[in-house]
This record gives sequence, C-alpha cells and structure tokens, in this order.
Amino acid sequence: PEAITVQELANRMAERGADLVKALFKMGMPVTVNQTIDQDTAELLVTEFGHNIRRIAESDIEIGVVGDADAEADLQPRPPVVTIMGHVDHGKTSLLDALRGTDVVAGEAGGITQHIGAYQVTLKSGDKITLLDTPGHEAFTEMRARGANITDIVVLVVAADDGLMPQTIEAINHTKAAGVPMIVAINKIDKPGANPQKIREVLLQYDVQVEQMGGDVQDVEVSALKKLGLDDLTDKILLQAELLELKANPERPAEGTVVEAKLDKGRGPVATVLVGRGTLRVGDIFVVGAESGKVRALIDDKGRQVKEAGPSVPVEVLGLSGVPGAGDPLSVVESEARAREVAAYRQSVAQRKRTTQAPANLETMFSALK
Ligand code: GTP
Ligand code: MG
Repeated sequence: PEAITVQELANRMAERGADLVKALFKMGMPVTVNQTIDQDTAELLVTEFGHNIRRIAESDIEIGVVGDADAEADLQPRPPVVTIMGHVDHGKTSLLDALRGTDVVAGEAGGITQHIGAYQVTLKSGDKITLLDTPGHEAFTEMRARGANITDIVVLVVAADDGLMPQTIEAINHTKAAGVPMIVAINKIDKPGANPQKIREVLLQYDVQVEQMGGDVQDVEVSALKKLGLDDLTDKILLQAELLELKANPERPAEGTVVEAKLDKGRGPVATVLVGRGTLRVGDIFVVGAESGKVRALIDDKGRQVKEAGPSVPVEVLGLSGVPGAGDPLSVVESEARAREVAAYRQSVAQRKRTTQAPANLETMFSALK
C-alpha cells in the first residue's frame, strides 16, 4: 500500500492542505501537511471531500519499462541497434560518418543531415542498421543505469596505431556488463604505424578473444578515413544481428526510449526517441518519463518530416510538455487525461524520492555495475 503526504493528496484533489489537516483532526488524526498517511486513510479523505477514487498502480510508473509481451505471431524482424564505442580520437565519429556515407537513402536526400544522435542507414542490400552516436560513454552508462538496454550490438573502435586505451577498456567492461555482443573495428589501418595483430593480442588480456585468436568475437580492419573495410563491417553487424533474431511487433501502440532531449528555442522540448516496438505516429498521445504530450511532428535522421516511425527507427519527437531525461521510456497511451495522470504520478514519485533519499548518483550506480 502506498503512503502519501497530506500535501500531495491535497494537490491531487486540488484542495487546500489545511482543509485536509482539519478533516483528519476531526477523524482523530492530528497530522501536519508534511506527514504521510496510509492508503486507507487517504481513500477515506478523498470520499469525504466528494472526489472519486482512481487508483494508479505502482506498475504505471513502469509503463514502457517492462510492458506486456507480444505474441510470437505478431513479431517481425527489426534492424539491429548498434552503439559505437571506443577511446577518444580513435575514430568513432569518422566511422559513423563513413557508414552513413554508405547509406543509399542519405545520398538521395542530398546529404542534408542534422545531428540527432541516432541514425539509420539503409544498405545496398536493403538491410537497415540503426547507429547510436553516444558522445563519451556516459549516455550508454546512464541508460543502462536507468534500465534501458537499447543496444543490440556494440562496435568497439580501436585505433591500430594507438592500441587499447583507458576508454577502450571501459567500453569493454560496459559491454560485458550489459551482456551485449561486441564487434571489434580495428581502425586507422591506413596509418604507417598500424599494427592490427598487436591489438588482437592485447585484447586477450581483457578477455576479448577475436576469431583469429580462436575466440568468437568478430573483428574487422577498417579505415574510416580511406573508407576501407566498411562493407566487411556492415556484413559482420548483419551476421551478428541474424544470430540475435531481433524482432518486434510493429502493430501496437509505440514504446521507445529517449536517446537525448533538449529544449529547442523555436520548437520547444524535443526528444530523440528510438522506437523499441509498435509504431509511433503523428497525433499519438504519450507519456515519456515524467512528461507527457501529443506527437506534433516526427522528424527523421535526415531532417525530413515523417508520419510514423516503427521498431528500431530513431526520430525526433515534437509536442512534449517538458524535457525528459536520456533513457526515459516513452509509451503511447489511450488518452491525454491518462497521459497527464501518469506523468503527474511519476513526477510526484520522483519528488518523493528526491526528498526522502540521497539523489541518485550515477557514479555510484556505475561502480556498482562493474
Ligand atoms: P572523440 O569523439 O573525440 O572521442 O573522437 P572520435 O573517436 O570520434 O574520433 P574522430 O572520428 O573524431 O577521429 C579522430 C581523428 O582521427 C580525426 O582527425 C580523424 O580524421 C582521424 N581518423 C579517424 N579515422 C581514421 C582513419 O581510419 N585513418 C586515419 N589516418 N585517421 C583517422
Ligand atoms: Mg567523436
């Protein structure tokens, strides 16, 4: 049973806290507005004030986090979501750009791209791959800390002329902790000092055994700069994806995860959302973290307005009540009243957490994961 402070209950009923205190006093309970009362007392008060009781289950704050399973028959293959990780300057962004350069659709669109932190490339074969650009590893870590494991595959970029560096090792640890398969992209092989074999050997020290060393981790030599080995890399991503048998039900109310969000001067709160399952459409009503909204517009990674986005598709969502956090789940719900209700409930839960316990500290959550 939920406990609630008198003030909070007053807020939800749009009554004055002092009036509730008075009523409670009459009921033989001398409490202040900041004290908590149990559920039975709260319900009594609510009826006393002539309001209707509408219970919100604790599971509502979990909407989109643990949602109900889809029937096997409704599942359809979906593209893999790939996060590129690695040490500073080892070529993550260059590799992403190079991979996006292989996108036949981007070519058609004239290459006008805007940074939304997530992209989907369509290969010549027609296969699609969703790529996540996580600046540093914080985003990846933050999402994991919040229970959002949206990455199917990690591509670990290691510069062949530099070798394994602190953030490479950090990335290996994160990937292992998340239980996500890894593909090692040995980059900058065009450089004179490049020594890919050395990388494969050193990786052994960190329990990463690539195929050539008798293990089962795929590795590929690439040059993001000279655009070498890119097809090999995408082939290996698709091969890995096939093993994972990634599927989702596209025909259901959408659920997704916020990759990043910001307050845009002209457009208001904007969230980049990666759709996990279902199809998100313009006009859909949703809850996202402790915010709610109605989809006013969807913008794809090529800057084009789209009407809908299905599983594994990253889109910018406009029409939010506020700026959600990275890793927050988005769920389409049936009505605006419902969306606001759940958002308000989550806000109150978050507030209670803030006041009753030390603020969640990513550093500590993070070390606990290692
Ligand atoms: P951060 O985002 O700062 O962590 O770096 P990053 O990993 O995204 O590396 P970025 O793509 O910015 O590349 C860093 C530098 O390496 C740039 O000067 C690139 O031009 C260069 N570089 C990237 N890939 C290659 C490559 O394959 N060969 C060579 N020679 N240089 C490369
Ligand atoms: Mg970069």
